Amino acid sequence: MIIKTFQTPIEAEHYAADLISAQVRAKPNSVMGWATGGTMLGVYKALCGMDLSFKDIRAFNLDEYIGLPPDHPQSYHFYMRQHLFDHIDISPDRCHLPVGIGDTAIEISRYQDLLRTYGPIDLQLLGIGQNGHIGFNEPGADLDGLTRKTALSPITIRANSRYFGTAETVPNEAITMGIGTIMTARKIVLLGCGASKADAVAAMIQQSVTPDCPASVLQRHDDITVVLDKAAAASLSLEKQRA
Ligand code: GLP
Repeated sequence: MIIKTFQTPIEAEHYAADLISAQVRAKPNSVMGWATGGTMLGVYKALCGMDLSFKDIRAFNLDEYIGLPPDHPQSYHFYMRQHLFDHIDISPDRCHLPVGIGDTAIEISRYQDLLRTYGPIDLQLLGIGQNGHIGFNEPGADLDGLTRKTALSPITIRANSRYFGTAETVPNEAITMGIGTIMTARKIVLLGCGASKADAVAAMIQQSVTPDCPASVLQRHDDITVVLDKAAAASLSLEKQRA
């Protein structure tokens, strides 16, 4: 695990964007894994400002809320169009996300089949939840799991209510790529910023691997870069902060 700590979120976001652009330049037909959430906004803004072609890229997103149609402003479909896809030359038919409406079981198998067909992912971008979730793999998730339906934990619903206005309007279920699939990505870049992530980041890096902190499984990946701002790194040992 490579750990890079920066003074400010903007430096961390730019570093993560540079790792992504290096991947796209080195392999223009890479299979990318995109993440959502507030943490990624600066990364996508930086990518949109680069002289970089995504026309041969195929991409998979980690997750989608069950019950939100793709045109819902809080859906991850909408987020990706708003913050990335509408600003780069990526081809919409190569951008895959789970669809949150319709028959969930059919959708899960459609998405897993796509991942099987086009995977493994070359570079997976990840955020981290305050409870150590990755994608929507909440504490207790199967560390070898594939695409599945998941119930959101109260802490995740509370954290994500800032995007919805109220906790009551946050869907309580999602479809998420499983940890087993995430772990098959050739490279992983995890970005964590802000004090609210400090405990989850420390558990991910310094505790033993446990489903109680799904991100801890990333200790077993052999090509992962964890990119942090100072606030998110604050609960790490000094030695790890300097790594
Ligand atoms: C969300 C997403 C995750 C994301 C995380 C952090 O619920 N499903 O993929 O990494 O929680 O979100 P934020 O960056 O808004 O803190």
